[in-house]
Amino acid sequence: MRQSSLVVVANRLPIDDSVAPDGACEWRRSPGGLVTALHTLLSHTSTTWVGWAGGSGPAPALPDVDGVRMRSVALSTEDLRDHYEGFANATLWPLYHDSVEQPEYHRRWWEAYQRVNQRFAEAIAEVAGHGAVVWVQDYHLQLVPGLLRDLRPDLRIGFFLHAPFPPPELFMQLPRRAELLRGMLGADLVGFQRAQAAHNFAQLVARVLELPATDRRIAVDDRVVRIGAFPVSIDTAEMAALAARPDVADRARRLRHDLGGPDHVVLSVDRMDYTKGIEQRLKAYSELLAGGHVKVRDTVLVQVAVPSRERVGQYQILRERVEREVGRINGEFGRVGEPAIHYLTQPFDRAELAALYRVADVMAVTPLRDGMNLVAKEYVAARVDDTGALLLSEFAGAAAELSQAYLVNPHDLEGLKQGLLTALRAGPDDVGARMRAMRAHLHEHDIRAWARSYLSALDESGSLLRRLGATG
Ligand code: ADP
Ligand code: G6P
Repeated sequence: MRQSSLVVVANRLPIDDSVAPDGACEWRRSPGGLVTALHTLLSHTSTTWVGWAGGSGPAPALPDVDGVRMRSVALSTEDLRDHYEGFANATLWPLYHDSVEQPEYHRRWWEAYQRVNQRFAEAIAEVAGHGAVVWVQDYHLQLVPGLLRDLRPDLRIGFFLHAPFPPPELFMQLPRRAELLRGMLGADLVGFQRAQAAHNFAQLVARVLELPATDRRIAVDDRVVRIGAFPVSIDTAEMAALAARPDVADRARRLRHDLGGPDHVVLSVDRMDYTKGIEQRLKAYSELLAGGHVKVRDTVLVQVAVPSRERVGQYQILRERVEREVGRINGEFGRVGEPAIHYLTQPFDRAELAALYRVADVMAVTPLRDGMNLVAKEYVAARVDDTGALLLSEFAGAAAELSQAYLVNPHDLEGLKQGLLTALRAGPDDVGARMRAMRAHLHEHDIRAWARSYLSALDESGSLLRRLGATG
């Protein structure tokens, strides 16, 4: 077994299986995955990515992806149901997103969460070289840092939460709150998207575990665990280069033509998730149509909503409600050949997404709560001519950085309607000034800057960063 000096760990591996033209199963790098953005950084180190390859059953042996080794962890049908769909996505996910849906607590789910976290820790212990840096991602694996420290005290362990971390009033509901906090404290550095999340974590550690904690440092046994905000980002240059390609510009022109050549295209791109505020947005749009503020011939809404976590009940209910509402709105306001909403549930390749971003005069990103929201950043990166209005929820992590967006509270229906109208009617000078400022921010704060700032804080000796730095 070859061992690595850097191990990245996430529930999902950055690959998808697909069927080749000859019918054989082949593995492809998944678009938009962390590795897409990180591969230049990672491919020149001896990195292993530990994760789940999708599906149930034995762990497949996988080829390297851009020089990064893939180590898959098996999930059984029960693990999938109780760990992934259960504790991760029906307990923690809703709880961490303001309980916009009711979190469910089941003892069997907790047992599966412990079991799967232990399996991940054992897989990491096998592939990590002596003194290696291990970077654990997200809410599916919060116990891994503690379990791994017990197995391998020689490792430098980082944990980063992509989701929001809730205020104490919500987190205190969790039956196993102390264990989860202790698990995270197995890390040397615990990273969050926003400073508020680090503050919530410190308060909880002080209250539940009675440890001395500030928003920067927590004393645990004889160690100091550092905490902080490291807002994740995108490969800004890659998205800008894609959007600037002549074939993508042509595709955007064709899309506008196919949409009926409207004056305004409003776009939303979401995973089908109740945190994304899709229903609230549809309601606001429907009321604008009903009030005559928006006319179908002048303005179209394109809603892309890729189905997600489809076996979880709350997601099934959401999809049914969204599709019923889109049908109602189109039935009421559309005309033959002119729907009010173009509704798409397909996954698109990066070039098609870039063309959609280019055609969108207004991008409506209005989640009820979101750790970051990379779609908002991708839209800004794709607007290479400094046009386009970003309507952004105050409750997306991205709002802390993209403060020049048209900010709205998606819970406030009137505010949401007004925000949409303001974005639709904004003059080119205002739109351009805002877009330029946001693009300048993303130019500096891209995915590489994120990885470097996190890894340099984690790896205080700087040896890993020196190797990464040597490769640009
Ligand atoms: P979340 O992490 O909750 O899904 P983000 O907005 O942070 O939300 O990230 C979503 C990622 O998925 C983005 O990189 C986006 O480009 C990608 N994505 C969303 N919809 C599609 C789609 N229909 N096809 C391909 N990629 C998509
Ligand atoms: C969010 C989570 C990720 C997760 C992704 C897609 O971004 O923070 O950890 O991978 O959603 O969800 P899925 O359940 O399909 O992995």
